[in-house]
Amino acid sequence: MNEDAAAYLREWFDRMAPNYDRLERLLSGFRPVVVEMAAPPQGARVLDAATGTGNQALAFARQGCKVTGIDLSEEMIKVARGKDSHGMTVFLVADASAMPFPDDSFDISVISFALHDMPGSMRAKVLEEMVRVTIPGGIIIIVDYEIPRGFMHKLFIRLMLACGENVYVPAYFRYDLEAALAGLGLCIEEKCPVLRGVGRIIKCRR
Ligand SMILES: C[S@@+](CC[C@H](N)C(=O)[O-])C[C@H]1O[C@@H](n2cnc3c(N)ncnc32)[C@H](O)[C@@H]1O
Repeated sequence: MNEDAAAYLREWFDRMAPNYDRLERLLSGFRPVVVEMAAPPQGARVLDAATGTGNQALAFARQGCKVTGIDLSEEMIKVARGKDSHGMTVFLVADASAMPFPDDSFDISVISFALHDMPGSMRAKVLEEMVRVTIPGGIIIIVDYEIPRGFMHKLFIRLMLACGENVYVPAYFRYDLEAALAGLGLCIEEKCPVLRGVGRIIKCRR
């Protein structure tokens, strides 16, 4: 099941890669907020799971972190590598639901605006893998859409879905992310709305 989903998502994001950063500009304001919430010490080992074109990974690298960004889509990773002019960051094609890293490899793990793109079974595996590769006491940060409550927010999500999100996205809006994080034994330390409440940053302690 996840192999079919991975193939579907790889193709979807390979096609999106050349134009992704135009859309990403709408999101980019929260990147420094994520870095600030993580408060990484110099040289911290940071994983950006489902890194896309690498903007969150590069925001950590600019703060002196040792960053690894992984993504299913080779085309997204190519764009990310092209922006890493100083070779500060390792960008790899890899599935975040089966990561090629030993346990406790990172001090901080982040995933932004990717969980909503996945089927539920893959989403659960990705979160499990983020816990596995993060050191005990380390930080896990999730950035993604908030569940829409008000009329305008629901309308925005409807329009977004109508404009052509992938087939897995609608189910995300019925998913209880905070319950899933608690089920993994993660302690939520801080939450911060982004994009006028359309999204949220959740900082957890492993
Ligand atoms: C909407 S983009 C977000 C990219 C980036 N994190 C950002 O904030 O701009 C979603 C990304 O998740 C990646 N992705 C989806 N499922 C994945 C998986 N199982 N493993 C690795 N990457 C995945 C896609 O290839 C795509 O690049």
